[in-house]
Amino acid sequence: MENRIPLIAGNWKMFKTCSEAVETAEQLARLVANVTDREAMIAPPFTAISLVSETLRGSRVSLGAQNLFWETEGAYTGEISSDMLVSAGCKYVIIGHSERRQFFDETDETVNKKINAAIRSKLIPILCVGESEKERESKDTFSVLDKQIIKGLKEFTSEEMKTLVIAYEPVWAIGTGKTATSDQAQEVHLFLRSLIEKKFGKTLAKSVRILYGGSVNPGNISELMAMPDVDGALVGGASLSAETFSKIVCYP
Ligand code: PGA
Repeated sequence: MENRIPLIAGNWKMFKTCSEAVETAEQLARLVANVTDREAMIAPPFTAISLVSETLRGSRVSLGAQNLFWETEGAYTGEISSDMLVSAGCKYVIIGHSERRQFFDETDETVNKKINAAIRSKLIPILCVGESEKERESKDTFSVLDKQIIKGLKEFTSEEMKTLVIAYEPVWAIGTGKTATSDQAQEVHLFLRSLIEKKFGKTLAKSVRILYGGSVNPGNISELMAMPDVDGALVGGASLSAETFSKIVCYP
């Protein structure tokens, strides 16, 4: 797997009050305290980010956000900027999750602006891409991913993309209990890496981390991580329990 440090990221979505978030973060930090060869990250809801940041200080768990708005500041009621996330302690930001594309009109164009805002603030963007069940059945998986990557990463240089993380999340596998097989994931990850090579060159293609997401759990993580182009996981439901998530982070 070249020199790519595996990243196991937990997306808490719209779950957990402040006290629940702090409690889970505390437990997780304790459970993964001895893990050195991989990185763990959690993305709590905005309301809990600052508190969880305090909780995670000095721990081995990094902090991420689930979204941002691309303007730096202004009259944008309800929105959060990249600098605000940095000031609250975030290192990562998830961008273009399929739930945002589906429920909040996120497009490849807005994804592009958000990635730009993230790199401007030195946040590491985790760009989510993935096909729907219908698109897979009609054999459009690669063309859908091609479009999401090309438009989402339009006009960036390879230098700007050097921290980029991609998460392949087939929409049909999110929250459904259906996981892509490790072979299916590997096939797509290899395709995504070749796209990055075409667009940004060999060096970036070798260093970019590509996570798999969609019903990852302690029982399937090892098989997924055994694939040469799978560099980590983006975990939803199974990241809500510190105990379960720590088992994923500590996969053998
Ligand atoms: P899931 O969600 O692990 O609950 O399938 C994954 C995601 O949405 O990132």
